[in-house]
Amino acid sequence: MTELGVGMVGYGFIGRVHTHAYLTLPLYYDPAPAQVRLVGVCDTDEKAAAKGVEQAGFEFATTNYHDLLARDDIQIINCCTPNFQHRELLIDALKAGKHIYCDKPLALNLAEAEEICQLAKTVNTVQQMNFECRNSAAMLRAKQMVEEGFLGDVFSFRTVYLHSGYVDASRPMSWRTDFEKSGGGAIVDLGAHIARIYNFLQAIVEGKPGNPSFEDGLAVHRVIDAAYRSAQQGAWVEI
Ligand SMILES: NC(=O)c1ccc[n+]([C@@H]2O[C@H](COP(=O)([O-])OP(=O)(O)OC[C@H]3O[C@@H](n4cnc5c(N)ncnc54)[C@H](O)[C@@H]3O)[C@@H](O)[C@H]2O)c1
Repeated sequence: MTELGVGMVGYGFIGRVHTHAYLTLPLYYDPAPAQVRLVGVCDTDEKAAAKGVEQAGFEFATTNYHDLLARDDIQIINCCTPNFQHRELLIDALKAGKHIYCDKPLALNLAEAEEICQLAKTVNTVQQMNFECRNSAAMLRAKQMVEEGFLGDVFSFRTVYLHSGYVDASRPMSWRTDFEKSGGGAIVDLGAHIARIYNFLQAIVEGKPGNPSFEDGLAVHRVIDAAYRSAQQGAWVEI
């Protein structure tokens, strides 16, 4: 069986979620299409990186992701760092010829996302993104309804995203609530999922849904960027 070595970059909340998914893969896919080996974990916080070794069995910890990129036995890089750290890592990982699994959003803003996608087009590796709800029961039902022609032509789209993450006044400030580091608060953090749902349903209408690629990540940034422009102008804008 093919063995794929993983380098996890960022071992905070979502880095642990990705790690959990790798660890439980064999329970869901039997036989799994490949054997995953958790090779290295990187976090700029030394204690967090060490946790990856202790909790998940990564073979080594580092505070510098270049240690992961330099390894021939690491084929996949998981990008689980805060949004403002995505660009540099993704560019370096693409240049190092790694496959990448990146949590949303692709980058800090549309310009960065375009730069990353330009480079991604020139390399021969797999790049995929992670968005919520993609395979939830409601989404699969929506997909079915679109495919059956139930919805007809889609002229408008409205969603509501219920999430309690921002309502706790005692929640500590973090990179998420810093515009320079998150790229824009809830509309980037949670709006990215909604934009992706819209793009996903649109892709079904066009007959080409797939697992979210970097191009899908870029499309999401276009929607978010349009939402900002719309809010600034107080008018409808074109995406
Ligand atoms: N798909 C989802 O539902 C979902 C949910 C939560 C977070 N996310 C995304 O995952 C990413 C991380 O979010 P989080 O909640 O895990 O944040 P977090 O703050 O819990 O964890 C981020 C970790 O990255 C580390 N880090 C920062 N810069 C680094 C660098 N240059 N190299 C290595 N490590 C570095 C930090 O020390 C921290 O441990 C964000 O892009 C976020 O949008 C997605």
